[in-house]
Amino acid sequence: MAEHLTVVSHPLVQHKLTLMREKDTSTASFRKLLREISLLLAYEVTRELPMTTKAIETPIEAMDAPTIDGKKLALISILRAGNGLLDGILELIPAARVGFVGLYRDPETLQPVQYYCKLPDHLEERVSIVVDPMLATGNSSAAAITLLKQSGAKNIRFLCLLAAPEGIARMKEAHPDVPIVTAAVDRQLNDHGYIVPGLGDAGDRMFGTK
Ligand code: URA
Repeated sequence: MAEHLTVVSHPLVQHKLTLMREKDTSTASFRKLLREISLLLAYEVTRELPMTTKAIETPIEAMDAPTIDGKKLALISILRAGNGLLDGILELIPAARVGFVGLYRDPETLQPVQYYCKLPDHLEERVSIVVDPMLATGNSSAAAITLLKQSGAKNIRFLCLLAAPEGIARMKEAHPDVPIVTAAVDRQLNDHGYIVPGLGDAGDRMFGTK
């Protein structure tokens, strides 16, 4: 992908995002909307996958038909909110390999600390798509991508629902080679690291916790 940042302005994406932002949207609706929106975002983040052709026969004649080239995609979910985006994308790309990265924020240093990491093999030969709905400070996303690169990944994209300018800047500084696809870029982060106007805590809203 040529651009570092792609904002998916499609009307369906924007309409669903507005419903997700509303504070009175129920957990069930939030989950359903996230699943739907993730399909539309997946369409955009996979737009430039490498293609090849294979020889097939239709009932009418033989042809060289387009097909996605290379090894199966790797989808990497940043726990726990990443799983909401992951579920929808897996409907579209059921054969993808899946990895998980768990990070928490050290209350003193505010830096991400890894507590879980399980990644697919042969990352150096796959396109990896890292998913996390909220690109806020960008610290966890940047750390997760560093882990991926240490495991050999070379061709990485980052998919989120909402991004803050601070997170985009952090990612651009740490991983300028990783394109970002998002549904919107909001105004800023507040003092607690929440995206403003945002949609609140994505994990809490999707899992019904507080
Ligand atoms: N994570 C969230 O879930 N929401 C934010 O606004 C920022 C980070």
